This record gives sequence, C-alpha cells and structure tokens, in this order.
Amino acid sequence: MTKSPPDHADTGRFGPHILARAEQLARLSESEAGLTCTYLSAAHRATAAQLREWMRDAGMVSSIDAVGNVVGRYAGSTSAAGTLIVGSHYDTVRNAGKYDGRLGILTAIAVVDDLNRARRRLPFAIEVIGFSEEEGVRFSSAYLGSSAVAGRFDPALLRRRDEAGETLDGALRAAGLDPAAIARLGRAAHDLLGYVEVHIEQGPVLLDEGLPLSIVTSIAGAARYAITVHGSAGHAGTVPMALRRDAATAAAEIVLFVERHCAATAGLVGTVGKITVPEGTVNVIPKLCELSLDIRAAEDEVLQAAAADISAGSAQIAARRGVTIEIHETSRSPSVSCSPQMQAKLEGAVARCGVQVRHLVSGAGHDAVMFHGITEIGMLFVRCGNGGISHSPLESISAEDADLAARVLRDFLLHFSTSP
Ligand code: GLV
Ligand code: MN
Ligand code: MN
Repeated sequence: MTKSPPDHADTGRFGPHILARAEQLARLSESEAGLTCTYLSAAHRATAAQLREWMRDAGMVSSIDAVGNVVGRYAGSTSAAGTLIVGSHYDTVRNAGKYDGRLGILTAIAVVDDLNRARRRLPFAIEVIGFSEEEGVRFSSAYLGSSAVAGRFDPALLRRRDEAGETLDGALRAAGLDPAAIARLGRAAHDLLGYVEVHIEQGPVLLDEGLPLSIVTSIAGAARYAITVHGSAGHAGTVPMALRRDAATAAAEIVLFVERHCAATAGLVGTVGKITVPEGTVNVIPKLCELSLDIRAAEDEVLQAAAADISAGSAQIAARRGVTIEIHETSRSPSVSCSPQMQAKLEGAVARCGVQVRHLVSGAGHDAVMFHGITEIGMLFVRCGNGGISHSPLESISAEDADLAARVLRDFLLHFSTSP
C-alpha cells in the first residue's frame, strides 16, 4: 500500500502537466481515429519537433540527430563529471496508447524544467533522449534510435524495406537525415554515468496490488520472425479438400501450435500479430501466407529452445500439408538485468517519496536493453490503469501516478552521485 504522502510542497504539480502534453502529442497521428506514429512519418517528425521545442523551453540544448532521436542536454555544474541519460521512445504501435514511451520523455522534460526554473545544476550532465524508434513497426527492427546512441546500430538495416518497398536508407534521406552519420552517434562509454527510463508498466500487476510504482529488475529477451508459407493456388470450387496445399490453413495450424507450445512452457509467451494472404481472393486457394511471430522469455535458454521447437513444429506441419515454409529472424534481443546499483538508487528515491518499494520483471522490451553492458541501467515502472491494458488506445495512467513518478525521478537525480 502507498504510505502517507511525502513531504513535498509541490505535490500534484507535475502530473496534470505531463498528461496534458501526452494528449497534445497524441493529436499528431497518421490516422484520424486514434494514435499511430510510426518511424519517420509526418506525424513522427512533427512529434520530434514538438519534443525538441519543449526540451528547449526546459533549458536544454536540443537537437534531432541522424536517426531522428530528439536529444536535450542539460549541462552539469562541472563539465568533466559525465552524463546520465534519461530516455524513452516517441514512436508508437498502430492504434496505440498515449503513454507507452512518451511518459518517460515527458516526465524527464518536466523534471529538468523544474531544475532549470530553480536555477539548479547537478554535478553531472543530463541528456534527455526521445528515441525515434523502439517498436519495430515500420522496418521490423526494434530499437533503431537507442541502438544508435548505444553504438550498436547495425548498418545492414539501412537496406531493409518497409511494406511499401522503401528502404530505411531512403526513408532517412527523405526525412532530411544523413544515414552515414548514424555510425557516429554512439556515446563514449567512459562519459556515461548510467541510463534510466521511466515507463508505464503495460500490465496489470501494480494495479492489482494497489501500488503506484515499481523498480524493474530485468527485461525479458525477445525474438521476432517473419514466416512465409508457400502452398499452391487453385480453384476454390474444384479442388477437393484432400488435394489442396493451402498456405493459409497451414499458417493457421502454425498459429495454434505457437499458442499451445507457449502456454505449456513456463515463462514463455508467443504472439502472431500479423497474418496476411498477399493478393488473397475469395475464390482462390491461398498460395502464399505471411505471418509475424514474437516470442519472449526472461531466460535466454527458454527463448532459444522455443525458437527451435516452433521451427521443428512448423516444419512438421508443412511436411504433412505439402507446403514449404521459410522462417526468417528479423530481430533478437537477449534478456538483460538492471544494475543492482541503479536499482538501489531508485529504491532510495521511491522510499524517500513515501512509496512501498516493489520490484518487477519487465515482459515488454525497452530502450534500456540497448545500454546494457555499456553503462548501468535502471527503470521505474508506473501503474497502468484500465486493467493494465497497453498497446491499445485504452491505455491509461492517473495524474497522481504520473506526478509521483516525476517526483521520484527528481529525487533520484538530486541524490544521484558518481559514487556507488
Ligand atoms: C515494445 O513495446 C515491445 O514490443 O516490447
Ligand atoms: Mn510499446
Ligand atoms: Mn515502450
């Protein structure tokens, strides 16, 4: 349970402001109904421009880098003390919630604005980064923005195409960005003091337990695949059922295999989020079916075994049905642990703000993953309302919880020091 309110005269100041800005950003969308803000769309670029302006208003030196990240730097009182990155992403899934990713950026901007108004510099620099791409929607590759800042951007991705056939390289150039400069965005590890991210929980645990916040202990590993099933086209009225090589029915069996297999394995989840029959026609037996697959587990061995089992199971289904399948891995990120030191610092801030300290494993992926092994990472989850639903327009958060998250972040920054 939440303990008595903390001793802050300004309780309630941040929350409504953060939520109002999230509403304002949500109006910049590719679709009339709901929020869709995929990488380098007009809505995405307008969102970046707005974030940049808000960073500037909060006293930061702000810019948009070669991969579309919005970077705001709030210099420290001494230049040699290093940089703490506070980040999250501003791209969204299709028909998204308003807080996934954006909550972390808006909270960081609000807290820096507060420091700036108080004319307060910390001994270290803060970089607030709105990462341009985390969801992997447009180019089937997640973490394009944070991988660049972490010095882990894979240049082979520049040749990857979106559904309209445009390459990542072409999309960047069309947006006025320089793909060749992405390789130079990686930060020097020796300058980094850590990476911290505030994010909506995107699940029901905190809501269920009546707690507003938790500290993330680790982030589950994830692998994504593009699966193509090749069958044989035929007339819907003339080919007997037993003689068909239907790509879509084979795909349907694969979907059910994934569901059964993941349900039977502790700690494993699997999702087929996209199924298409390209050029499908009502009276033609499907020749081709394309599906996406996303599998996740907190333990890498479980994830690896699942990939092998699903591949073997799909091969059996294909052989029995006389179709062929191709499985192509589009992205993979291992499970990572948040640093014990950052967890301890977040615990201190949560406790000082009068909230019970709770820890959670994250089933969702986050930009923090990209900084693991480069600097200390830490994450703070904020309670998700509405049953814990996320990746949906029904995603919600209360102003009180947003406010508390901002106060915890401010306290964390004020107590953050370069010593362990
Ligand atoms: C990001 O939202 C993810 O897919 O975990
Ligand atoms: Mn998301
Ligand atoms: Mn997110």
